[in-house]
Amino acid sequence: MKEAIKFDHVNFAYQEAPIIADASFTVVPGEFVGIIGPNGGGKTTLLRLIMGFLAPSSGLIQVYGATPSHAQKHLGYVPQTIRFDKQFPISVLELVLGGLLSRLPWYGFFSKQDVEKARQSLETVGLADMEKRPFGTLSGGQAQRALIARALVGDPELLLLDEPTANVDTRVEMEVYELLKRLQGKMTILMVTHNLNAAIGLVERVLCVQKQITILSPKQVCEHFTLGLYHAPLIKLPSSGAKP
Ligand SMILES: Nc1ncnc2c1ncn2[C@@H]1O[C@H](COP(=O)(O)OP(=O)(O)O)[C@@H](O)[C@H]1O
Ligand SMILES: [Mg+2]
Repeated sequence: MKEAIKFDHVNFAYQEAPIIADASFTVVPGEFVGIIGPNGGGKTTLLRLIMGFLAPSSGLIQVYGATPSHAQKHLGYVPQTIRFDKQFPISVLELVLGGLLSRLPWYGFFSKQDVEKARQSLETVGLADMEKRPFGTLSGGQAQRALIARALVGDPELLLLDEPTANVDTRVEMEVYELLKRLQGKMTILMVTHNLNAAIGLVERVLCVQKQITILSPKQVCEHFTLGLYHAPLIKLPSSGAKP
């Protein structure tokens, strides 16, 4: 089976200072991987590399056996901050359809099938009866689920989420994790999280991003936390995609 993601000695710098240094790891299809690391550690940069919005300075990145830019159609992305104007008069259905924008034909209309897909996607996240609501009137949890529906509408094989619970309360956070648990195994999921304690029951492995990238099992992460070793060099696993 092809790896979902393969990094082979990847380096990246915006200017001179390296952000990602000599990263090698693989993620297998269907795996749920948590991404942790300090602020500015390179987590969002890592997602941008996977999406092909940035190119590595050296090394090789493959997503489902292809270059990241060729794999974009397999991707769903939930961005870190929601920069939607609450007053912006977009309905929930339109927001979700926006996830298909890159696939619109040249004449620029959504088909009946597209609308049907958007409705299915809303159903998946439990917002089936909300399609006509202005996006700005949704609660925090509903808005977050609508953004996940938008990422799901193109049937991604790989779902990337950048701190999907950063600005929400614990109840909403749990709601988002419940939803992700239902998606677990149906697609590969990479989720940046600031709250590994809450997500530890969900993730199968953890990528620690702090210039270097280390991939650990949750058990190893817990041991490191217990020992207070998080900021010390972490044990490197062999960079295989095997599940622990
Ligand atoms: N577009 C950019 N140009 C230059 N430096 C950037 C850019 N985006 C991020 N950085 C820097 O790269 C580092 C990693 O950022 P980022 O990947 O956003 O970290 P994280 O998501 O882990 O907080 C930070 O030092 C940040 O300031
Ligand atoms: Mg970030």
